[in-house]
Amino acid sequence: MRAVVVVESYFGNASQVAETIATTLRERGASVEVHDAASAPPRLEADLILICAPTHNLSLPSASSRAQAVQRGAPQPAEPGVQEWLDEVTALTGRVVAIGTTAGSRFTGSAAKAIVKRVARKGIRAERGPEFVVNATAGPLRTGEIERARDWALSVVAGSSGQK
Ligand SMILES: Cc1cc2nc3c(=O)[nH]c(=O)nc-3n(C[C@H](O)[C@H](O)[C@H](O)COP(=O)(O)O)c2cc1C
Repeated sequence: MRAVVVVESYFGNASQVAETIATTLRERGASVEVHDAASAPPRLEADLILICAPTHNLSLPSASSRAQAVQRGAPQPAEPGVQEWLDEVTALTGRVVAIGTTAGSRFTGSAAKAIVKRVARKGIRAERGPEFVVNATAGPLRTGEIERARDWALSVVAGSSGQK
């Protein structure tokens, strides 16, 4: 299996999820590239294209929410993020799955949902994958979330076995 992961992260939690999934897929024999959204190419082709971002203001990070993240202690982030990258995307060929991180209370909004909608504007279908919960704005991820990311990656490999 060939997989490409595109990730945006301010406090490192979405990156930790993305790296856990990438490592798990590699352990199972996949070849995996991980790109920061700021430098991801506009055309991607792979068996699995995973897009991972934190939820900001109920949706995907924007220029203003990035500034708010920096005010809340994030290191100065690389811009642009997933939202701006998706606006420049010309082709995503393969199974596209959106995943996100959230603060996990009841009305959090969802970066993953926003990714699915944004990808649809390009006429591309993305599946809404899992959301991983952080304990606070800067993290860490809630206990068990890394294991859940690993299990999810294993389920993807299991589901794709038998396919090319
Ligand atoms: C400006 C800003 C707005 C946020 N808005 C939301 C929100 O609407 N819903 C939510 O669940 N979490 C929200 N959060 C918390 C983020 O989801 C959390 O910081 C992120 O998932 C951590 O991932 P990261 O370490 O990869 O940046 C917000 C965080 C920031 C900095």
